[in-house]
Amino acid sequence: MVSSVGLPKKLPLLSHTGARTASTRPHSRTQSAGRRRNEPNRSKALLTGIRNILVIGDLHVGSIYGMLPPDFVSSDGAEKPQNDGQKYLWECWQDMKTKAARFSIDSVVVNGDLIEGKQPKQRASELTLLAPNDQESAAVFLMRDLRNWIEKNTGRQVPFFFVQGTEYHEGRGAEELESIAARVQGANIDSNFSGRHCKEVLDLDMGGTVLNFAHHLGGGSGFTRSGSLDAEALWCQITSSKGQAVAADLIVRSHLHFFMHVEHTGRHAFLCPCWQLQTRFARHRSAYKLMPDIGALIFHVSPDAKKQGADPIAFTKLLYRLPAPRVNQFEVGKKLREAA
Ligand SMILES: [Fe+2]
Ligand SMILES: [Fe+2]
Repeated sequence: MVSSVGLPKKLPLLSHTGARTASTRPHSRTQSAGRRRNEPNRSKALLTGIRNILVIGDLHVGSIYGMLPPDFVSSDGAEKPQNDGQKYLWECWQDMKTKAARFSIDSVVVNGDLIEGKQPKQRASELTLLAPNDQESAAVFLMRDLRNWIEKNTGRQVPFFFVQGTEYHEGRGAEELESIAARVQGANIDSNFSGRHCKEVLDLDMGGTVLNFAHHLGGGSGFTRSGSLDAEALWCQITSSKGQAVAADLIVRSHLHFFMHVEHTGRHAFLCPCWQLQTRFARHRSAYKLMPDIGALIFHVSPDAKKQGADPIAFTKLLYRLPAPRVNQFEVGKKLREAA
């Protein structure tokens, strides 16, 4: 059963057909570390009833560094070809879809920054799709394509949950994401937070095991990158003990564009990888430090395991290497280019 916490009407019961280990390709870094680690400790009975949740985020559709479907035709009728980076991301995306289809995906969470937005600060200098309706159309295509692919493989409807990302990208009132989520028929999120088809926070109760999703998390400093994620798990403990929040077994954040996993005795916290190559914003802070991780996460949730005192959370990470950096070859006396 997949339901938003407090949701009066339960979503349809989704059957499970069992998970398999994903294969590896030269450029992919697929690991089921959590799943392999946890599975030997689970009895066969515990392995039944596992729900698989695919989490994607930070696609930044519209950015020259973000996702763009091939053969996209913009609103002026012109074809918008993928640049080299977008071709690479698309190849990784297809590989991710193939690997995700090897599991029986029960639900998808889109954890914010689905589109890039208008880029007022950069004067749209890093946009591949300038018109907001083009960004929306491309994002809707990607979500429908993913949904069709998963539903074709599972043979049943799969709810998509949309979590609001950064205001700079998705609008002050998340109006851009609202429109996309409405067109893709995002699942209802029951909470008193703002938003109709998408919300800032999603608490998902899966038979007593609670998953918490939100987009934002503050970055760390120096060589410490896990501190804010560690703190988020501790704050969950503090606020839930006061009855101010739901005690989550799994916390998922995005926004920082790199993968991270922190585990406490009774709680996991993750940072989700992204689908956008390094931007000018990142390079201005540090060309070396802010390297994104490309990919997605699949969580294998076992409410039965929790009921029997075992860890209900296992995971598969689907990570992809960044394209090889280009190097300028220095040549003495090289002829200058023609002046523009
Ligand atoms: Fe982002
Ligand atoms: Fe963000």
